[in-house]
Amino acid sequence: MTTLPNPQGAGRETRKVTVPEILSKKTRNEKITCLTAYDYPTARIVDAAGVDMILVGDSLAMVVLGHENTLPVTMEEMLHHTRAVRRGSRRALLIADMPFGSYQGDPGEGLANAIRFVKEAGAEAVKIEGGEKRLDLILKLVENDIPVMGHIGLTPQSIHALGGFRTQGKTLAAADQLVRDARAVEAAGAFSLVLESIPAEVAERISRELKIPTIGIGAGPGCDGQVLVWHDLVGLSFGVQPRFARRYADLRGLLEQASRSFLADVTAGNFPGEAESYRLPPEVRERWLSRSPG
Ligand code: KIV
Repeated sequence: MTTLPNPQGAGRETRKVTVPEILSKKTRNEKITCLTAYDYPTARIVDAAGVDMILVGDSLAMVVLGHENTLPVTMEEMLHHTRAVRRGSRRALLIADMPFGSYQGDPGEGLANAIRFVKEAGAEAVKIEGGEKRLDLILKLVENDIPVMGHIGLTPQSIHALGGFRTQGKTLAAADQLVRDARAVEAAGAFSLVLESIPAEVAERISRELKIPTIGIGAGPGCDGQVLVWHDLVGLSFGVQPRFARRYADLRGLLEQASRSFLADVTAGNFPGEAESYRLPPEVRERWLSRSPG
């Protein structure tokens, strides 16, 4: 970890999480935490909570932008939100998810887009979906000093090919393919690997075999770390909640209540009150009130 100066208090250090630190957490057998964030206030909150990594996931498409899947989100939208998260985070390692269409073609184009995340949005790593088929691209990014987080299992950018949001690796052949994919991602030089929605036994074996940390989401407790989508964690998701998501707060209920309270106060004339209003200085007020409107 790198130590950052802390403007808020002498003696209190902010320790910047780096890629080598993430790797050494696995060696030390310490669990790694990762949350998604898409905006400045959320980034401030999860960074201050001490999360190791913040992922600006392309789940942005669904949980923030209201699309049915992750496919429509664009480079420009991902860059825009990554910049906001960059402004809100100091400590956590910041990873940007490369959106569908930004790396599936020519590896040169994939490299150019990955560079945009680092150069224009302040990302410290990028995430790409796919195993063996991404070998060349991962090699190219790593060769150019861009740390890569892999992502295998249920890869939402492949939903049309997979036939929907389904748990992967449930047959022997499919589980063996996941192991080959994991090995390929590691061999290409990725620094970590997301395992999404796969049987816990398969995730555990992959985690034991790889030197790089596995970060699970719906992949059981045997992974080296866990990631969750912020909106699932705090109860802000609409639609079907995946079985693997645990809700730690009901922000939706809280925010609905706050909206209803505002409506009730305005309707009843209780908002704004004296404390929320500005008044003329007394000498101006007297003259103002004594003058006829003109
Ligand atoms: O886009 C995303 O949020 C993700 C995580 C679920 C890993 O890819």
